[in-house]
Amino acid sequence: MSRRLTSLVVIATHNPGKLKEMRELLAPYGIATQSAGELGLPEPEETGKTFATNARIKAVATASASGTPAFADDSGLVVDALDGEPGIHSARWAGPDKDFRAAMNIQTLLIERGAKTPEQRRAHFVAALCLAWPDGHIEEFEGRVDGVAVWPPRGDKGFGYDPLFRPDGFDRTFGEMNALEKHGLPPQGQGLSHRARAFIKLAEACLTRA
Ligand code: IMP
Repeated sequence: MSRRLTSLVVIATHNPGKLKEMRELLAPYGIATQSAGELGLPEPEETGKTFATNARIKAVATASASGTPAFADDSGLVVDALDGEPGIHSARWAGPDKDFRAAMNIQTLLIERGAKTPEQRRAHFVAALCLAWPDGHIEEFEGRVDGVAVWPPRGDKGFGYDPLFRPDGFDRTFGEMNALEKHGLPPQGQGLSHRARAFIKLAEACLTRA
């Protein structure tokens, strides 16, 4: 039986784009939020080899430092023709305010490998979510959305690799979609993004609508 989250959660991120989305996802559930950045908590080193391990490292460290349940996301863009890179290294490739350079790196490597057609440029976003409690209990969920790495990047909404990624079944990139389209939950939205897909599983197991 999953444990339910009731009152306050600390969001274990210092990334403003992710923090905004995680707050929007939690909003309908009446859970108060603080962020690790607002509490001045340090960012633990992400030493894991998978998204799930790194999400767990962040959630567990934040729950034990704050004495409050913590919510972490580890996510990234996996490009098939680049053997899965940037993957768990997505933040490192991007760096603060260097989103365009990260997209450029992907484009340069794809061209080096002769990947020009949409079929050769398959990519997917992954999000691993972890809820951790100070007593050591954890709950974990994962979501994925498939699509294509486009060039040039399009749109200035969202964050990170959003302008580079066109999800299957859409003409527009995540960078051209508003928040409701990218990660809105049913019934208003369709739970399109990797983070929304993981969050729907988390909400079913651990949250109650306010
Ligand atoms: P981390 O999970 O904090 O290690 O960082 C994940 C990195 O992946 C972010 O800094 C972004 O560059 C990228 N990323 C993760 N999710 C998204 C998304 O929804 N849109 C665009 N980029 C994302």
